[in-house]
Amino acid sequence: MIRTKPLALVTGASSGIGAAFARRLARDGFSLILVARRRDRLEALARDLGGAEVLAADLVNDDELRVVEDRIAAAPDLELLVNNAGFGTLGRFFEIPVESQDRMHRLHVMATLRLTHAALRVMAPRGKGGVINVSSVAAFGPSPQNVSYSATKAWMNSFTEGLRLELKTARSPVQVQALCPGFTYSELLDTAGVDRSTVPSWLWMRPEDVVDASLRGLARGKARVVPGAIYKLAVTFEIRTPRWLRNAVVVRLGGWRRKKKPQAR
Ligand SMILES: NC(=O)c1ccc[n+]([C@@H]2O[C@H](COP(=O)([O-])OP(=O)(O)OC[C@H]3O[C@@H](n4cnc5c(N)ncnc54)[C@H](OP(=O)(O)O)[C@@H]3O)[C@@H](O)[C@H]2O)c1
Repeated sequence: MIRTKPLALVTGASSGIGAAFARRLARDGFSLILVARRRDRLEALARDLGGAEVLAADLVNDDELRVVEDRIAAAPDLELLVNNAGFGTLGRFFEIPVESQDRMHRLHVMATLRLTHAALRVMAPRGKGGVINVSSVAAFGPSPQNVSYSATKAWMNSFTEGLRLELKTARSPVQVQALCPGFTYSELLDTAGVDRSTVPSWLWMRPEDVVDASLRGLARGKARVVPGAIYKLAVTFEIRTPRWLRNAVVVRLGGWRRKKKPQAR
């Protein structure tokens, strides 16, 4: 197929940061492939954008993940892959069902790994393209009730950094980026069952601003983007504070995450 517009595939495009990526990339002149489980949401977004390809897939499911991989393999002109699909959980690792932790690892780790592999197979030989892996500031330090989330996001950062080094040593201009947002308005905390009011209002970012920081970073070849001055400061503090001290403070504070209050019926 002869395509005049650059092509981008965004996972988790049915809400939050992924939907903001889709809207921004469409405005920037990209053709889009939108991936998530909720087909109705993706179709509504595609209509809003004046057209986009919709690929409804549960990326935790091997067969459905394979369909998305195959779609990437059949898109030699793919310009940008955004591995954004993700979710959080609430509760201690040993108290919540192992199945949700298993799904999280499949989504954050295995789907990111496989889709990135498929994308780099088409981008590296062409010497063009980029991959954005949506990680989190949680990647910089584990915390109670967020163990698998922090661990999988730390994997994403390490994976992206390794790829960056590999592409540089292969003298490839293909860009990879770990995008590490802090609290961002989306459905993430609601889905995890966390009470949003436990997060101070000044910590929240708009998904559009997160996407803007990411794409500005990509244009400048930044391998890691932490949107927002507060979060840049927090990450610097997190990295520079001796681990024993940082961990002692975390234990002292305990888990901040509170469950949503039960809804009145
Ligand atoms: N919001 C924050 O505060 C924050 C902070 C740091 C990092 N992040 C990261 O940002 C990314 C986007 O999250 P968000 O904040 O925009 O939350 P969100 O509004 O809940 O969006 C999550 C997206 O992931 C998709 N998704 C979830 N499970 C999936 C699966 N098994 N297969 C395919 N798609 C799946 C969801 O679509 P369907 O339900 O339709 O499948 C949805 O489109 C995540 O990786 C998250 O970890 C968010």
